[in-house]
Amino acid sequence: MNDLTAFTGNHVLSVAQFDRPQIERVFSVADNMLPYALREKRTQVLDGAILGNLFFEPSTRTRVSFGTAFNLLGGEVRETTGMSNSALAKGESLYDTARVLSGYSDIIAMRHPQAGSVAEFATGSRVPVINGGDGANEHPTQALLDLYTIEKERKSNGEGIDGLHIAMIGDLKYGRTVHSLSKLLCLYKNIHFTLISPAELAMPSEICDMISDAGHQLNITDQFEGSLQADICYQTRIQEERFPSQEEANKYRGKFRLNQQIYTKHFQSKTVIMHPLPRDSRVEANELDNDLNLNPNLAIFRQTDNGVLVRMALFALTLGVDNKVSDFDRPVHWFSNKGQNI
Ligand code: CP
Repeated sequence: MNDLTAFTGNHVLSVAQFDRPQIERVFSVADNMLPYALREKRTQVLDGAILGNLFFEPSTRTRVSFGTAFNLLGGEVRETTGMSNSALAKGESLYDTARVLSGYSDIIAMRHPQAGSVAEFATGSRVPVINGGDGANEHPTQALLDLYTIEKERKSNGEGIDGLHIAMIGDLKYGRTVHSLSKLLCLYKNIHFTLISPAELAMPSEICDMISDAGHQLNITDQFEGSLQADICYQTRIQEERFPSQEEANKYRGKFRLNQQIYTKHFQSKTVIMHPLPRDSRVEANELDNDLNLNPNLAIFRQTDNGVLVRMALFALTLGVDNKVSDFDRPVHWFSNKGQNI
């Protein structure tokens, strides 16, 4: 994609397809979606459209927020969840599955455990496909909602994304959200990356090279050290489902816990705490302690709310209705206190 009209009818497979003006366009459309997400009004702009929501790997927020976003635009959602519930389990190819399901839908969101699978599926699809996560490779819509959250959090302090210092912590090898977010941040100026992980779970070298080649500052360490002057602390989960064995994953579980005491020791009082979720709250992991729940800098649930806005924006842009949403407004008839919650 190389201009603002290029969203319409196109797949969203990787953050690499976006430039800064396009990202700004996504964020501007997302801002316009807030009254609908708050249920102040509704729109029927996608009345009659069908989303095929295909999740061949577990998901709570990506799957449900894709569906919610489509419903909020007036469209309908058809779900397929789990590999064993689809003909993929009988040996059908991704290409054939795409040819078939794209005949039933106007747009498809898809998650699959293999890197590159969503792009392969898209080659057979007759409608736009949005990548909801393909193995350890990418999670472009999560990266967009993370960046949108960073922009909003920074704006409240009168700052922008340029000049940001972000600390990424945990499983940076298999964590697709940090891969996509790092690539997006490379489009901005003077970003300082501090990457904290066991050496075995380090950020892939090609992404480190991309960061360095773009002229950003890169620090790599395997422990929390001293006072990190980071603006954002981005914690991640050990992606146990991508390890060769459970025993291997267990070696790293609980290695980088964050609680209020550790936060106070290593971060600034204004450092925003992010996590793509789910956080692993089992006692042996507890990577983001509940004692941070009342910390006003904990942005994890602002991220999940922002995910609906960003996914609404991507649907509207991809289906070419981004400038028509309010033409199909309807009033809300029921009591809603969502405005008090977001
Ligand atoms: N962040 C994220 O992808 O969450 P889910 O696995 O619940 O979709």
